[in-house]
Amino acid sequence: MPNLVVVGAQWGDEGKGKIIDLLAGGADAVIRYQGGNNAGHTVVIDDKKHILHLVPSGILHPGVTCLIGNGVVIDPVSLLSEIEVLEASGVQVRENLKISELAHVTLPYHCALDQAYEAKRGKVKIETTHRGIGPTYKDKFGRTGIRMADLMDPDGLESRLEQNLEEINFMFKNYFALPPFQIREILVQYTNLGQRLSGYIADTTEIVNSMLDAGNMVLFEGAQGTFLDIDFGTYPFVTASHTIAGGASTGTGVGPTRLEKVLGIVKAYTTRVGAGPLPTELKDNEEDLRKRGKEYGATTGRPRRCGWFDAVIVRRAKLINGFESMALTKLDVLSGIEKLPICTAYKINHEIVKTIPAALRKTDKIETIYEILPGWKEDISGISKYKDLPDNTKKYVKRIEELVGVKISLISVGEERKQTIHMDDCNLIASR
Ligand code: GDP
Ligand code: IMO
Ligand code: MG
Repeated sequence: MPNLVVVGAQWGDEGKGKIIDLLAGGADAVIRYQGGNNAGHTVVIDDKKHILHLVPSGILHPGVTCLIGNGVVIDPVSLLSEIEVLEASGVQVRENLKISELAHVTLPYHCALDQAYEAKRGKVKIETTHRGIGPTYKDKFGRTGIRMADLMDPDGLESRLEQNLEEINFMFKNYFALPPFQIREILVQYTNLGQRLSGYIADTTEIVNSMLDAGNMVLFEGAQGTFLDIDFGTYPFVTASHTIAGGASTGTGVGPTRLEKVLGIVKAYTTRVGAGPLPTELKDNEEDLRKRGKEYGATTGRPRRCGWFDAVIVRRAKLINGFESMALTKLDVLSGIEKLPICTAYKINHEIVKTIPAALRKTDKIETIYEILPGWKEDISGISKYKDLPDNTKKYVKRIEELVGVKISLISVGEERKQTIHMDDCNLIASR
């Protein structure tokens, strides 16, 4: 299997966790490259559900090295509790997990700022996860951030916190009318958290590049999805990082030539959690699709907005990420729906367009153009070979391939590993 960047092709929650766990069985390492604990990646093994927020989705394979790259933002409280839960269910974390010393830290004031900014936005909220992601990246790029390595150096940490809190507390007092943060409390708590995490801190760039030098196979785990990317998403209704495949290089310190291949994870319909454009959103009957797909956020529990498959955005995702193959997920969810619309193009101001407009002001003018495919009644969740799928299911799969212009290498028909169809010409799992 080549080194592979696994990236969400829609608005997140495409089923990346399931696919990464599946592929990790044939990998040596999995490295997360961006985002933070806003992510919720679900892996189900023998009916036991694990929701991973910061720990890479390869952790359930005992021999796989799991790395949290420099591009990730880490809330140490959340990470430690995730590790505890995993270890309590018998997963070996300590032996397999390493965290970049360069990763930025989400502090309590980032979470408070996230909520305070949302409150200030009034009616046009982003509907963030309130995990402090935006403010942590804001500090990173403003060059005032605190990194994992800083937690190991109490004196350095104190002076950086002092400087940051001067401005932040001014904001809390005078702009948000909220209570300020106390440096002592943060310093004591985060020095302690740093000590508890010290065994995990490492130069992950050195580790991953050495593994590649030795011929090991590495998976680069994306979080969120292409249209939540800070540049290419439906700005400003996006997250604060580079969710796209390109982020895998900057978020790990692995040169782009070594990334080899990109796999786009594509849900058989579309969902989005939070505010912002969703052209194929269902106006009636959204609840039906939501219930069938159990579309409730893995991090916040919020109901996900649901819509039909949108070939326009997945085509754009192919372009931005350069994926040459796709994993089509949750196809089983569509069983029993009589007619399956697929959006093939948009009409904006009476003009047919085949790509989502970059400027948000145009997205409210989108009229979706659908092609209607016949559905199938059969339960497909137990099928493991493509040839055994109902004819109408095959037509749906083939039409998606045609419209996007990319081959599907894996079809997921359930949450468990075994509920996956490997396509005959699948070049992902072949040995290197
Ligand atoms: P991620 O953020 O991309 O990893 O996706 P989430 O874990 O947030 O959401 C995907 C949900 O769908 C999880 O509950 C998975 O267990 C589930 N899931 C993944 N693949 C399939 C599938 O093929 N069929 C069904 N029915 N559920 C799936
Ligand atoms: P995974 O990795 C779906 C959304 C939030 C909000 C926007 C900004 O599980 O696919 P943020 O807290 O990041 O500042 O919120 O992004 N969002 C996600 N939506 N899946 C995710 O992750 C998401 N992470 C953030 O709902 O609209
Ligand atoms: Mg998710």
